[in-house]
Amino acid sequence: IAGLDTKRIGQHVLAYDTVVSTQLLAHEAAAKGMPEGTLVIAEQQTGGKGRLGRAWHSPKGTGIWMSMIVRPVIPIPKTPQMTLLTAVAVAKTMQQETGVDVKIKWPNDIFIGGKKVCGVLTELNAEADRVNYLVIGIGINANTAAADFPEELRDIATSLAIESGTTVDRVRFIQQFCRIFEAEYDHYLRHGFDRIKTEWEACSYTIGRWVTVKTIHSELEGRAVGLDEEGVLIIEDAAGARHKVYSADVNYGAN
Ligand code: BTN
Repeated sequence: IAGLDTKRIGQHVLAYDTVVSTQLLAHEAAAKGMPEGTLVIAEQQTGGKGRLGRAWHSPKGTGIWMSMIVRPVIPIPKTPQMTLLTAVAVAKTMQQETGVDVKIKWPNDIFIGGKKVCGVLTELNAEADRVNYLVIGIGINANTAAADFPEELRDIATSLAIESGTTVDRVRFIQQFCRIFEAEYDHYLRHGFDRIKTEWEACSYTIGRWVTVKTIHSELEGRAVGLDEEGVLIIEDAAGARHKVYSADVNYGAN
């Protein structure tokens, strides 16, 4: 990316036209030793992956479909913090570049006016109980027109262009994202998770809401009260008992 003044994030870019998924290519690149900060970007994905085994709609030319390799030296239980950090960096970039008011829905979805504009998918590669690398996939509906969303997404998805009324310059957006991400990441590696936690909570759609949480094992209802120091969501049930939620689908009740 021409003129990008970061130290590592975005300094190596593998750009493709059509791929199955940038996640797969980023895993291959990481295994071959591509350095931290390498981005794999595609114009279109034929098999875009979402969380929990879902598909991610990734049509040609209108989105930002990218995967980033990072190699943080952190314990494995702290890797979800990197997802929260990424969501904060994307939210900040969106706010800075388009002025729209964005909210983060735990742990990793970015919403504008109740509709999803971005998802983050973090995949861990560990070796001998250590983080070898993470592939952080970021899918942003940048310039998708309302009519171009498939029927089933029309009520639940939106794009930056729809919400801001202007076309997003995708290269510029990625450049700004790299800067913002690197600043957050460097701060995180030096000083820990506190700042991200505060920033995440400040633009959270989840905190304060009554939610239903479905995990593979159970279902839980309560108010989302905050993140703990590890980045785990804390839910307080009607009886006042606190529960930690690591990875789940969160649905929102009326109050
Ligand atoms: C989600 O909200 O479920 C996460 C969506 C992540 C989509 C991005 S697009 C770039 C990268 N490549 C993929 O196949 N998925 C991620």
